[in-house]
Amino acid sequence: MVVNFYRPVEVFFGEGAADKVGEVARRFGFKALIVTGRESTKMTGALDRVVKSLNSHGIQEYLVFNEVVPNPTDKVVNKGAEIAVEEKVDFIIGLGGGSALDVAKAISIVSSNEGSAWDYVKYPEGPRLIPYLNRPVICIPTTAGTGSEVNRYSVITNEIRKEKLVISHSLNYPKVALIDPTLTYTMPRDLTAVTGFDALTHALESLTNRVENFMAEEYAVRAIQLIAKWLPVAVEEPENREARRWMSYAAMIAGIAIDHMGVALIHAMEHPVSAHYPHVAHGEGLAILAPYVTEFNLKGNPKKYALFARLMGYEEKPERAVDALIDMLEKIGLLKTLKDVGVEEDKIDRLTEDVYMLSRHSFTVNPVEPTLDDVRDLYQKAYEGRI
Ligand SMILES: [Fe+2]
Repeated sequence: MVVNFYRPVEVFFGEGAADKVGEVARRFGFKALIVTGRESTKMTGALDRVVKSLNSHGIQEYLVFNEVVPNPTDKVVNKGAEIAVEEKVDFIIGLGGGSALDVAKAISIVSSNEGSAWDYVKYPEGPRLIPYLNRPVICIPTTAGTGSEVNRYSVITNEIRKEKLVISHSLNYPKVALIDPTLTYTMPRDLTAVTGFDALTHALESLTNRVENFMAEEYAVRAIQLIAKWLPVAVEEPENREARRWMSYAAMIAGIAIDHMGVALIHAMEHPVSAHYPHVAHGEGLAILAPYVTEFNLKGNPKKYALFARLMGYEEKPERAVDALIDMLEKIGLLKTLKDVGVEEDKIDRLTEDVYMLSRHSFTVNPVEPTLDDVRDLYQKAYEGRI
């Protein structure tokens, strides 16, 4: 039995946790860089809540860097890092969905070391540079999906190279996560669905891949049960507080599961899709690919796929895992094809090559080690909707 863990993030979870930011931030200094998206946290009042809490704890100096976009780029990280250095900020607050949190963490690395964001992403051969310093980061998620608030990953896109890669390093953890389900109440239906499905894919891939970690598996198991029950409710009833609470919790523990066990081929195949087609949300790309990749993977780990099926409320048989996914996608409005979201059929070869060039390290942990023909075939099926 293997149980390895390292959990350097202090977590405050619960309704009202976001209002602790001022109290927590005082430990880290006097000047904050708040990293967030262009509009949503301003419109929902989340940004005001953060600023109010900072002010009431004597932190009057803060800058708002609101240039984070979905599928965030290395350019955005580099710009934020420049501001952090020039303005001599003491600490960084990431406020928003996965993109804002990932950028906040990456700014911490880039603003504290030499080089730029792309020097720290993990190609299969490893990153070009290894960081040795960071700035403290406080993560406050406003969606329930990414798990970035509790793990070491930042996913960054390079628009020129059309590559999406991950910074994965023990200095890339936030110091503190304030996980407040009340911030997710205003999420629209589509965003609830795509972010929630991201969390489900984290739990599914970490549970079924070849990495062993008994404790992390328990997190994945619990996350699947909770998401099976509460994601359709959160999509249908955005105001349902119980559903929002359990989804925030499930996303957090699924984020811990991937921190220890990683993901697998669904994520490896999704990243080139949203790198070439940035209008496709990460969770949407995962939703399109998940049934096909799962069907391909069944024979590599039938026991765990049977367990997944049971946790989703189906008969404990591996093949029922695919039905469980399809039914969930139908319920939350995400049963789509690559064609539906504008992927061009003649791009499939390029997407396949990119999986090999950028993510082939995930092939050996995938339940079934794929060939390039397998990957191409899976894209083709997901393009046509041929299950
Ligand atoms: Fe993900």
